[in-house]
Amino acid sequence: MTFAAIRPSGSKHEIYADLVLQATGLFEGERDAIANAANLAALIYGGIDAINWAGFYFLKGAELVLGPFQGKPACVRIALRKGVCGTAAQERKTIVVEDVEKFPGHIACDAASRSEIVIPLIANGRVVGVLDIDAPVPGRFDDEDRKGLEELAGLWLAASDTSEIKKDLARR
Ligand code: SME
Repeated sequence: MTFAAIRPSGSKHEIYADLVLQATGLFEGERDAIANAANLAALIYGGIDAINWAGFYFLKGAELVLGPFQGKPACVRIALRKGVCGTAAQERKTIVVEDVEKFPGHIACDAASRSEIVIPLIANGRVVGVLDIDAPVPGRFDDEDRKGLEELAGLWLAASDTSEIKKDLARR
């Protein structure tokens, strides 16, 4: 079977609805959390405009460790409570940063990033990681983006077996 991810067009609402359909197709019959994360990072990176990084960090001990992503090479480890990612994981809520230069403690992996959204990934009440998207323009992410990206993150959580990630956490 081949998957030709097509960049959807239309309103933001239509674009996210289309991405939800594409993600549902990609995850069908596949429970591997890393494989599904890799496909979702690629789908988001190719599917929405004006972004320069899309990917995952997984919680291992007290650190977030880089997972599948699209974009430039990024910081590998982020401590809980540090940066936008560590803050979203700690507070267990989505953080939208309009201007990264005004977010205290923002970690600049790519100097081009100007705004960012980070969604915590919570499986059975436990944070397993975050989904992070960066944009090269300020104020790129609005409430429609938040809802769409949270829905995609929720699909990944529902479709994937995150016990391998949790097992790694338990071994530490
Ligand atoms: N800016 C993030 C770090 C990760 S990169 O953007 C890929 C942060 O402040 O947590």
